[in-house]
Amino acid sequence: MQVTGRKPAVAIDGPAGAGKSTVARQVSKDLGYIYIDTGAMYRAITVKALRLGYNLSDEAKLTELAENTEIKLAYKDHTQVIYMDGEDVSAEIRLPLVSQNVSLVAKVPGVRIEMVKIQRDLAIEGGVIMDGRDIGTYVLPNAECKIFLTASTSERAKRRAKDLEAAGIEVDLIQLEKEIITRDEIDSTRKMAPLIKAEDAILIDSSNLSFDEVVETIKECITQKCGG
Ligand code: DC
Repeated sequence: MQVTGRKPAVAIDGPAGAGKSTVARQVSKDLGYIYIDTGAMYRAITVKALRLGYNLSDEAKLTELAENTEIKLAYKDHTQVIYMDGEDVSAEIRLPLVSQNVSLVAKVPGVRIEMVKIQRDLAIEGGVIMDGRDIGTYVLPNAECKIFLTASTSERAKRRAKDLEAAGIEVDLIQLEKEIITRDEIDSTRKMAPLIKAEDAILIDSSNLSFDEVVETIKECITQKCGG
């Protein structure tokens, strides 16, 4: 139900490569919402931890790192730019090394606590479409509209490969699929706020849907639940 005076919040959760960010960006552009990619925040902390050569199983050090790192988001042409301690790391967070390690950092409760504070602050005024793994279940449990977007593992690997190739990064599809399975496993089995569908989320399997169909389905859902 929409709270009077406050624009709705939309949560889009789902596994790696389900297409959350591309559809969320398009829907937010069409409806005039602010798009927030929360995975980018965990990636930015991972960039810093890797640069510093941290042991990624040292939860205390990673927590301290997250507590002492400034993460800020900005927007250029509806595209999110992420700053880590004032430095634009938007390109670096997409590097394969970061993708391979980010779920180890994201599973640390102390890191999550810090990122969730920022995420909730960003959503305070509503009017946001936030994508992640735990938005509907944990970050914004009262979001007016919740979507759980998924697709088969092979389809998700193919889409990730296409995105990476477009960014000039060479990929091995089989390896990418293995990495996606590993990442899903860590994300879904961690203790704090694991990746699961919120009971009240609408499930969309995009395996056999076009990009436009997914965008339209989500927009319809927002219109139905939030009145547009
Ligand atoms: O969506 P992504 O691939 O950029 O996410 C990167 C990692 O961060 C992934 O392992 C899941 C984790 N993540 C999370 O735990 N919670 C979120 N809200 C968003 C991402």
